[in-house]
Amino acid sequence: MSAIPESAPRKVFLETYGCQMNVADSELVGGVLHRHGYLRTQDPAQADVLLLNTCAIREHAEERVLGRLSELLQYKHARPSVQLGLLGCMASHLREHLLDRAPYLDVIVGPDGYRDLPSLLADGVDPRVDVRLDRDETYSDLTPDHGPGPRAWLTVMRGCDKFCTFCVVPFTRGRERSLPPDAVVAQVEAAVAAGKREVVFLGQTVNAYRADGVDFGGLLRRAAAVDGLDRIRFTSPHPSEVSDAMIAALADEPKVMPYLHLPLQSASDPVLEAMARDYTIAQYRALLGRVRDAVPGIAVSTDIIVGFPGETEEDFRATADFLEEARYDFAYQFKYSPREGTRAYKIPDTVSEAEKGRRLRQLIERQEEISLEVNQSQVGREVEVMVEGPARRPPDHVVGKTQSFKTTVFRDVGAKPGERVRVRVDSAGAHTLRATPV
Ligand code: SAH
Ligand code: SF4
Ligand code: F3S
Repeated sequence: MSAIPESAPRKVFLETYGCQMNVADSELVGGVLHRHGYLRTQDPAQADVLLLNTCAIREHAEERVLGRLSELLQYKHARPSVQLGLLGCMASHLREHLLDRAPYLDVIVGPDGYRDLPSLLADGVDPRVDVRLDRDETYSDLTPDHGPGPRAWLTVMRGCDKFCTFCVVPFTRGRERSLPPDAVVAQVEAAVAAGKREVVFLGQTVNAYRADGVDFGGLLRRAAAVDGLDRIRFTSPHPSEVSDAMIAALADEPKVMPYLHLPLQSASDPVLEAMARDYTIAQYRALLGRVRDAVPGIAVSTDIIVGFPGETEEDFRATADFLEEARYDFAYQFKYSPREGTRAYKIPDTVSEAEKGRRLRQLIERQEEISLEVNQSQVGREVEVMVEGPARRPPDHVVGKTQSFKTTVFRDVGAKPGERVRVRVDSAGAHTLRATPV
């Protein structure tokens, strides 16, 4: 399998866009290329192969990548042997249209084609395109090259079967499939052996995980039994897949962090229905209540889309009101972006760009205030922070995350990345806590 070239090792530059699953996929691609003799470089001018691992979730994401590609083209002009490749969700979303936009691409490979990347780069027809989706590919036998720091991202399931009407992911990543639990545990053990202290389980509907009779709650328990692992998180669970077993693991398994990302999208039933989100706002509210009853003090974040086609002022108000009620720790909020191929793409866009912008700004401003209030309620408390490394500022400070995933900065007392330090929270902003070691 490994064909290490006899000539000088080729250097690869790999840049990642999009979600954490893409970060994890880039680590997988890094591992595959590494085993085939490639070296990594952070400098595109030094690279023989330039790869962008891309995202198609919103139009803006695609435009950024197309802009970056035309920048990278200069290196190919300078040295024609340089290969330029596009990986990831844009490859499966745009397929042959990519060659109209960027005819100079040498390889185009979708999320299920990374195993064969070395041979596509080695030779073949030009351009080399592999955008087939493979309902069995989990890469469970491949070892990713994890980045620095105490945290390892581990993809435990791939694809999505939900087909929310706004979303390209089921088309870009194909059908749901889970890694065998033994393979996940082996990857957790390998990460710990490599010095990692935290794992983050990833999947677009991560809690739909099921393999060999093990469900997501069971997987969390299996991972928690790994010695030397301190923390487990996961993203993104889908509200309609939350099980009692998952909530129980959050509640009573000390290694499972008291933090939950629970995407809402909208708090209006007609909009949720048009989005095909599979829950009503009453069901979502009840779920949030169950989680908070079971795990007092749990931090909760969410995703929200404003300006979905047909979203009226009244629908929007329902979402704004729900923000007040839910008091999320933080929220990722987006303007609806029509995506070709999705069901919502065929519904006329009824909300103007200006109005989407107004709605988005209003929610972001309000959520900033709520995040600030929620964080300020932590002042005076003692919390445990896992150190990640030096803080960007102030000097001589380190940064890490609390158990509820809050970014926390405190004076460097010699703690190494991965170490857990007890601190007292002194002050809080909307995004960061300041603390003193106790
Ligand atoms: N699987 C996760 C999230 C996937 S994408 C879930 O089900 O929630 C991350 C977020 O991007 C989504 O939660 C949604 O808020 C946003 N998003 C997805 N498609 C979008 C689109 N077409 N326009 C705007 N935002 C979108
Ligand atoms: Fe997209 Fe919905 Fe699947 Fe999330 S659950 S990835 S929003 S289709
Ligand atoms: Fe983007 Fe693909 Fe992730 S579309 S958000 S990189 S799954």
